[in-house]
Amino acid sequence: MPDSPSISVPQLVNVQINGLWLQFPKGTRLIEACEQAGHFVPRYCYHKKLTSPGNCRMCLIEMGMPKMGPDRKPSLGADGKPEINWMPRPQICCATDVSEGLGVRTNSPLVEECRRGVMEFLLINHPLDCPICDQAGECRLQEFSIEYGRQDSRFLENKVKKPKNVELGPRVTLDDERCILCSRCIRFCEEIAKDDVLGFIDRGSYSTLTAHPGRRLENNYSLNTVDICPVGALTSSDFRFKMRVWFLKETKSFCTSCATGCNTIIGTREDTIYRQTPRENDAVNSCWMCDYGRLNFDYLQNERRLLEPLVREENALKPTTWSRAIETVVARLKPFVSWQIAILASGRMTNEELWLTGQLARSLDVTLIDIVPRTGPGDDILLSEDRNPNTNGARLLGVASKDGARLRQIYDALAAGQIQVLISLGENPLRLGLTTDFLERLPVYIVMDLLSNETTDLASAVLPSFGFAEKRGSMINGKGRLQRLNRAVRGQGQSRDDWEILRDLLHALTGGNGIYTIEDVFRQMSEAVPEFNGLTLSRIGDLGVQLLQTDRSPNPPGEPAEIKVREREKEKHSQ
Ligand code: SF4
Ligand code: SF4
Ligand code: FES
Repeated sequence: MPDSPSISVPQLVNVQINGLWLQFPKGTRLIEACEQAGHFVPRYCYHKKLTSPGNCRMCLIEMGMPKMGPDRKPSLGADGKPEINWMPRPQICCATDVSEGLGVRTNSPLVEECRRGVMEFLLINHPLDCPICDQAGECRLQEFSIEYGRQDSRFLENKVKKPKNVELGPRVTLDDERCILCSRCIRFCEEIAKDDVLGFIDRGSYSTLTAHPGRRLENNYSLNTVDICPVGALTSSDFRFKMRVWFLKETKSFCTSCATGCNTIIGTREDTIYRQTPRENDAVNSCWMCDYGRLNFDYLQNERRLLEPLVREENALKPTTWSRAIETVVARLKPFVSWQIAILASGRMTNEELWLTGQLARSLDVTLIDIVPRTGPGDDILLSEDRNPNTNGARLLGVASKDGARLRQIYDALAAGQIQVLISLGENPLRLGLTTDFLERLPVYIVMDLLSNETTDLASAVLPSFGFAEKRGSMINGKGRLQRLNRAVRGQGQSRDDWEILRDLLHALTGGNGIYTIEDVFRQMSEAVPEFNGLTLSRIGDLGVQLLQTDRSPNPPGEPAEIKVREREKEKHSQ
């Protein structure tokens, strides 16, 4: 008989929180237990994915242990539960785990008085420049001072002046006066980015955050320190002073700059993207994302953006309507037979676009179809070497060959002059190593893309399409997780969603195809491809669905969070 898999059942401990006895798995942080019980404890230095230094003291609570009777057994109260011996002084709850019989009060008068005291100390040297602070609207100091701040100041001395506007690195600016010395940024650099670059200098009121001598905060994860800084001390040099955060519309999406597919929130206003910030997904990116992916959105507003469909007439590209552009493309394809046509697709296309591309190839009987690989240096944190976000989708849907064999065939056929028609979907054929001479000689060269490139001027027709933040659709990341893109902004000019362009091409080539919405494309795909069976775009959800077993992008750092944080703490304490 095969061994049955062993299931480890966590040991539960009884904890009294604000008078109510509850059970939590052994090893749960007390601050997390309180939150799970519905009692949020204010905190500054604690971050669940980092070690707990316990230095801000904002999470003070009252704590007690079971009262022991003369028989060394917990003495029971009238309700039959252990009585608690409360400690006279408050304790922090971010660096303590739950334990059997522990009692906690998170809202007693003593606790509230302590929090007011901590707030008063934290604000002693704070410049209180909320009206001009970039963090306003998402600042923990602002939030907690509403509940625990004083109306007036008792501080008569001069505030300590600290450095302002310090360029800690190329992407991060520091306002030291606002820093509350929580050390989250220091710990992030050390524990997650593996770049021990920040530290405190000087003592007491003069303690100041700075980069180590001769060092700059320039690692590829530096902007995560801005996300986790609970106050406005660290700001993004790119986003600083551009937009008040309460004006931003937030759209859940994911980064398409590499195969990891870090989950994001895209902050937009009036169809302009202002920032991307990481969204927690423990199966993909934990709470982090790299700077390269985070800042890679400006190209959507680039001046090279293709804004209207173009067709070649009298040896020049001329603007036209969408219906004429589609008609022209189909008319130019018709005289050629399948072996004279090649399709260069892209690993940046969504599954829905790749599915329709596959249909287009089938309708033309084209076998020379592949995607162009795109690689760059990866790291062991998040960044994947594969810079195409949907290589797995292209392989699963049969558009990409496993080993790039079809791409070599396309190159050889183009070089030999066999190919008369090249359809380039979001790719630049020069990336294959071809020169523009090859393209000049092609009778038909169709381009569907977002931005113009050196080859666009040679096209027979140009079909302007959408960028990642302008479309809906799905992709499969390097780890085989199916994730959903959501539209954050409208497309520019007359550009159209790629799936609509492909649908119209197919329609013009083959007649009606019953596709009216992107959901119809997904339905067709899920009926034909077993891996997608039972799924819909809405069922993918905000955190995605594990679809394939592959392992091409790094594991999210610090996951599973609890275990890794504990391991790091043990390492630190043994040093
Ligand atoms: S800069 Fe921000 S994250 Fe860093 S120690 Fe100061 S308050 Fe904490
Ligand atoms: S690691 Fe990849 S997916 Fe994540 S933010 Fe960077 S480029 Fe984007
Ligand atoms: S959150 Fe507990 S001491 Fe800072």
